[in-house]
Amino acid sequence: MAVQVRGEVLDIRRVGQYHVLSMVAPGVAENAKPGNFVAINVGGEHSSMLLRRAFSIYRTDQRGVYGGTVDIVFSVAGPGTAWLAERTRHDVIDVVGPLGRPFVLPAEPVPCVLIGGGYGAAPLFSLAEKLRERGCRVDFVLGASTEDRIFGALEAKRISQSIAITTEDGSLGERGRVTDVLPRVIERADSAVLYACGPMGMLQAVAKTAERYGIHSQCAVEEAMACGVGVCMTCVMPVVGDDGQTRMVRSCVEGPVFRGDRVRWSEVGTVPDDVIGSIAWTQAVNDSRFSGPLPVAVEEPELIDDDVAAASEELS
Ligand SMILES: Cc1cc2nc3c(=O)[nH]c(=O)nc-3n(C[C@H](O)[C@H](O)[C@H](O)COP(=O)(O)OP(=O)(O)OC[C@H]3O[C@@H](n4cnc5c(N)ncnc54)[C@H](O)[C@@H]3O)c2cc1C
Ligand code: FES
Repeated sequence: MAVQVRGEVLDIRRVGQYHVLSMVAPGVAENAKPGNFVAINVGGEHSSMLLRRAFSIYRTDQRGVYGGTVDIVFSVAGPGTAWLAERTRHDVIDVVGPLGRPFVLPAEPVPCVLIGGGYGAAPLFSLAEKLRERGCRVDFVLGASTEDRIFGALEAKRISQSIAITTEDGSLGERGRVTDVLPRVIERADSAVLYACGPMGMLQAVAKTAERYGIHSQCAVEEAMACGVGVCMTCVMPVVGDDGQTRMVRSCVEGPVFRGDRVRWSEVGTVPDDVIGSIAWTQAVNDSRFSGPLPVAVEEPELIDDDVAAASEELS
């Protein structure tokens, strides 16, 4: 269950282009699972920055002297993260978490590849530990635009069977993108599951690679979020359900981890016509009421002609 706590900054340090912030956040640390995120109030009490900012949980430690601790990794993207980067030891931070649905772990000890783009690597290290506890082979692929945007290469090396690194400018590892080396890693390890976190384009490419190999993928999305707790619908994405129907689902509560083959990646940011509840879908349902079978099974009240006639009389 998520809690709201006023945590204290324990430490903040630079790692390449990133900041790693550790805070005491009792209740969050104890309940967090790999893939969960926290929503942090930025700017202080009198700030005009009303919306919390979301961050993947990098590490937790339940045995902290002052209570459980939570670590996050961030780069300065705008005013909220700039404010966070200026925090120092003992500053107080208002944090809500753990939020969202975590990664699903395989029931069997199967080989898994963990793919992180930039700071998207952050939630994958605790996942790697959980997978290894279950006897899964873990291979890492980390990618970023430049060397200083690769996060956690040494840590990944320590806890995995192999690590492949790609940078777009070739400053570390192979020049290119994670999906350039991913097929090689999958084939070598005979991987059964891909876990990924990073930019949308990377997740789409990873999901496509998984489909090509007929294996499972789980992708943690970082769709822009306003409330983080399922109220505002800012974060909706078109996702196909078990019944084959597409719905706009909230990535903060139904995600941020989704099955890669269920997200309609190329339509993220749009409302496809066949999404349940879309304008086109509603129009089709209404039209079919008078001219043919419904496009999907729905139960709606019948229009009763007498009621309509009575209402018209009242109006006239
Ligand atoms: C579930 C989740 C987990 C996240 N984890 C991390 C993390 O571990 N580390 C980290 O640094 N950031 C993470 N983010 C992104 C972070 O929340 C946003 O970048 C945040 O808006 C930064 O706040 P800001 O005030 O500094 O910048 P803003 O002024 O809010 O934004 C600065 C720029 O970033 C763009 N932006 C805003 N939100 C996002 C987003 N979700 N994805 C891509 N671009 C965005 C804006 O359009 C703008 O151009 C995560 C987001 C989500 C939804
Ligand atoms: S961010 Fe508000 S519903 Fe997801």
